[in-house]
Amino acid sequence: MSVFKRISALIAVLFVVVGFGSISSHEEEAGVEYVDVEKLDSNSDELDGSKLEILMVQQEVKFLSGLIRRYKPKKILEVGVCFGGSSAVILNSIKDDEEAKLYSIDINGEEWVGRVVQASFPELAKTGKWKLFKGNIAAKYLDEIGDGIDFVFLDTMHMNPGEFLDFLMMLPYLKEGAVIVIHDVMLQHLVGGLDHKHAEYLRAMCKKFIQAYFGITDAASLQVQTKFGYPIVSTNCTLLGTIRGKKLIPSYDLPNIGAVKLEKGQRKCLWEYFNLLILPWFYMPGDEHIGIMESHFKKHYDERYVATFKESVAFHKECFAAAEKLAERKDEVKTEEKPVEKRGGWRRLIPWLD
Ligand SMILES: C[S@@+](CC[C@H](N)C(=O)[O-])C[C@H]1O[C@@H](n2cnc3c(N)ncnc32)[C@H](O)[C@@H]1O
Repeated sequence: MSVFKRISALIAVLFVVVGFGSISSHEEEAGVEYVDVEKLDSNSDELDGSKLEILMVQQEVKFLSGLIRRYKPKKILEVGVCFGGSSAVILNSIKDDEEAKLYSIDINGEEWVGRVVQASFPELAKTGKWKLFKGNIAAKYLDEIGDGIDFVFLDTMHMNPGEFLDFLMMLPYLKEGAVIVIHDVMLQHLVGGLDHKHAEYLRAMCKKFIQAYFGITDAASLQVQTKFGYPIVSTNCTLLGTIRGKKLIPSYDLPNIGAVKLEKGQRKCLWEYFNLLILPWFYMPGDEHIGIMESHFKKHYDERYVATFKESVAFHKECFAAAEKLAERKDEVKTEEKPVEKRGGWRRLIPWLD
C-alpha cells in the first residue's frame, strides 16, 4: 500500500473513532435517555396480567422487564414485594438466563407477601432463581445476599424517609454501573390531581398502611402532615433526581417510573444521599429498625454520616412529638377544612397554625 493510501486509511479510522467518541460523550453529557417502552425487548406480555395483582400499569411493567432484558443483570434485588406481581415480572424476564437470580425483600412477614409467584406462576417459582426474605428491612438480609448487585427494583413506602433509607442500606452492596428502577416517582403529581374524595381515601390508606407495617397506633402526626395530600409521596421523585448516574426515563408523558444507571464513584455522593434524611419525615420507623440501620451504617459509612442519620432520627422524633401535642390542642384552635385542589397549588400543611 502506498504511503498516501496508508495516510488516507489512518485519517479515515481517526475520523470514525473521533466521530463515534463525540456521539457517545454527547449522550453522556445529556445524562438522560428517553426510552421508548414499546421498542424495549420486554417479555411481560407472556404473563397473564389478570393474575399478577401488581401495583403497576402495563407500560411500567414493560419498562421494568425491558430494562432487565437489555442489561442482562445477574444479581437482582427487589425491595417492596407486596403480593409479588413485580417479582413474577422480574423472574419471567430472567427465566432464560441461567446465571441470573432475584432476591426480594419485604418488611411485612405476612403469608400473602409474594403469593402471586407460587400461586399463579408456579413454573417461575420452581426455577430456584428466587429467594424471598420477609419480615424485616433490607439491612437485615443484605449480608446474606452479598454484594455485586447489578439491578434493583425499589418500590416501598413512597414517603420520607422510606426509599432514602432503603437506598442507603443497599448502596454498599451495589456493583459499579448497577441499574436502579424506582416506581411511583410521579405519585405526588397524581395525588395532587385527585379530587377531594379520592385524596381522603388515599390519606386513610396511608394511615392504615403505616399503622399495619410499623405498629404506630397514634398516627396523629401523620394525619397532620398529610392534611393536604401530595407532598407526602414525593420521596421517589426526589431520590430518582438525586442518585448520580444516567437517567433512563420512559418517553411518554409524566411517567410514574424511572431508572438510574449508577455512575462511577458513588461514595463521592454520600453527602447528598445522607442529606436527604433532613427533609421532613412522614412516618417514624420503629426503634428495632432504627437500631438495625444504625449498626448497618456504622459498618459501611464514615462516622459523620452515621451522625447525620442519628441526628435526623432524633430531630424527627422531636417533630413528631411536637405534632402530637399540636394535634391534642386541635379542638381548642379553630381549624378550617379546605378541599384539595384539582391540580397542583401550594397549601399550608398545618392549617391550625394559621
Ligand atoms: C407498593 S408495595 C410493592 C408493590 C410491588 N412491587 C408490586 O408492584 O406489585 C410496597 C411494599 O413495600 C413493603 N415495604 C415498605 N417498607 C419497606 C421496607 N423498608 N423494606 C422492605 N419492604 C418494605 C410493604 O410491606 C409493601 O408490601
